[in-house]
Amino acid sequence: MTLTNPGDRVATPEPETVTTGLAGRLEVHDNRTGRVYDLPIEDGAVKARDLGQIRAPDEEHGLFSYDPAFLNTASCRSAITFIDGDRGILMYRGYPIEQLAAGRSFLDVAWLLIHGELPTPTEADAFAEAVRAAGDLPEGIVRLIESFPRSAHPMSVLMSAVAALGAYHPEAKEVDDATLRQREIPTFLGSMASVVGLVFRHFQDRSLTLPPASHDYARTFAANLFSDGPDATLDPAIVRAIDVLLILQADHEQNCSTNAVRAVGSSRVDPYSAFAAGIAALYGPLHGGANEAVMRQLHEVGSVDHAADVIRKAKTGEHKLMGFGHRIYKNYDPRARIIKQTAEEVFKVTGTNPLLDVAIAIEQAALSDDYFVSRKLYPNVDFYSGLIYEALGLPMEMFTVFFAASRLAGWTAQWLELIQDPEQKIARPRQIYTGPTRREVPPA
Ligand code: SDX
Repeated sequence: MTLTNPGDRVATPEPETVTTGLAGRLEVHDNRTGRVYDLPIEDGAVKARDLGQIRAPDEEHGLFSYDPAFLNTASCRSAITFIDGDRGILMYRGYPIEQLAAGRSFLDVAWLLIHGELPTPTEADAFAEAVRAAGDLPEGIVRLIESFPRSAHPMSVLMSAVAALGAYHPEAKEVDDATLRQREIPTFLGSMASVVGLVFRHFQDRSLTLPPASHDYARTFAANLFSDGPDATLDPAIVRAIDVLLILQADHEQNCSTNAVRAVGSSRVDPYSAFAAGIAALYGPLHGGANEAVMRQLHEVGSVDHAADVIRKAKTGEHKLMGFGHRIYKNYDPRARIIKQTAEEVFKVTGTNPLLDVAIAIEQAALSDDYFVSRKLYPNVDFYSGLIYEALGLPMEMFTVFFAASRLAGWTAQWLELIQDPEQKIARPRQIYTGPTRREVPPA
């Protein structure tokens, strides 16, 4: 069955001129005091701190903006990733994701996210060599991974190993030293490719001896996962699919796990600790853990005949349709389109995944059902990615580990931007207190 219809072909959207809203003024009339305030509008936003001056005499503080889960709050200025959720547009540093996925490597894209421009051939070669050379892990990290029971979820092991790397790279604590920061970047990516390989091998009770790393990051990544010998052959289509999946999930502006990296990083802790916080957030089933949850749901459905059941249960609130919906995309996630195409290439090598028909049946049923259409719930990046991971030979427990390895590039770029942003301070939100007023402790 062909995965894509002509309509599904990944069309690169029209060139996007990114506008950040017009300047202006917001006039606020506070009818508690009769005062009028004139607040500047910049880049389509009003500064929450400007609300602080709006205060009634008997209030303990000026106005807060109240925004649980930050549905309408910009936490930073960022030049890294642009998303237009209504039009389903995703760009890294201004380049459309479709073009990056079609023509570049993950390391090129990681360099782009981190440095703002695609690497020159010289920069690309030096970066690939630095990342390759940084793949050797301290023996203590290998022993730490080995110390986990085989039944431990790989995301728990990954989180621990990445946090532990901070103990072996104390120089990374010097977050204000630009030279040390730049020197650490290849170690983030090189270590991750090795840790992911060891975490998977330990989970499968296989040898923890990794094959020699190469300059081709996707090949190294694939070999660490699948090769049990230095001369094991890897199908180029499989390596290319891994490269594309790493590119597609590399960054996504201020998602939950990036927000965690920025919040933890804002205390000026070492980046490994901040990335471990990102892994913890990504692990959740509403975020990166959704790819594993999608596959469990597809296995549960089992056949096209039962697709209607999963739709019905989602509409009654019995469960979420995993891999559907998105906080920002109210249109088809552009990454999902590319993943569907990539799956076609993988299935030519591995044979198709029978659950693909189930996924397509669910998508077609959902996209013609008013419950989903009215709420603008479309397939997101996680809906089809699991089908590829499974076809590649990864167990469901490894899907989010793969996602984390990809997102490390974005977390690195976002962390560096945070550390160098003069507007940023330690993240410490306020609250609206709803607890009891002062009362005296009764005698014991
Ligand atoms: C990722 O933020 C990012 O960029 C994330 C990510 C990235 O690259 O970093 O793109 C990666 O995390 C993708 C999302 C993966 N998660 C899932 O697939 C889990 C299933 N999706 C939902 O849990 C949900 O859609 C979220 C969490 C993704 C978004 O949730 P929101 O924005 O908080 O939306 P919501 O829960 O307020 O839903 C609005 C309505 C509600 O119904 P009503 O109250 O209006 O009646 O839509 C319903 C929800 O019940 N709804 C769903 C649904 N998603 C939303 N109903 C059934 N199934 C779903 N999947």
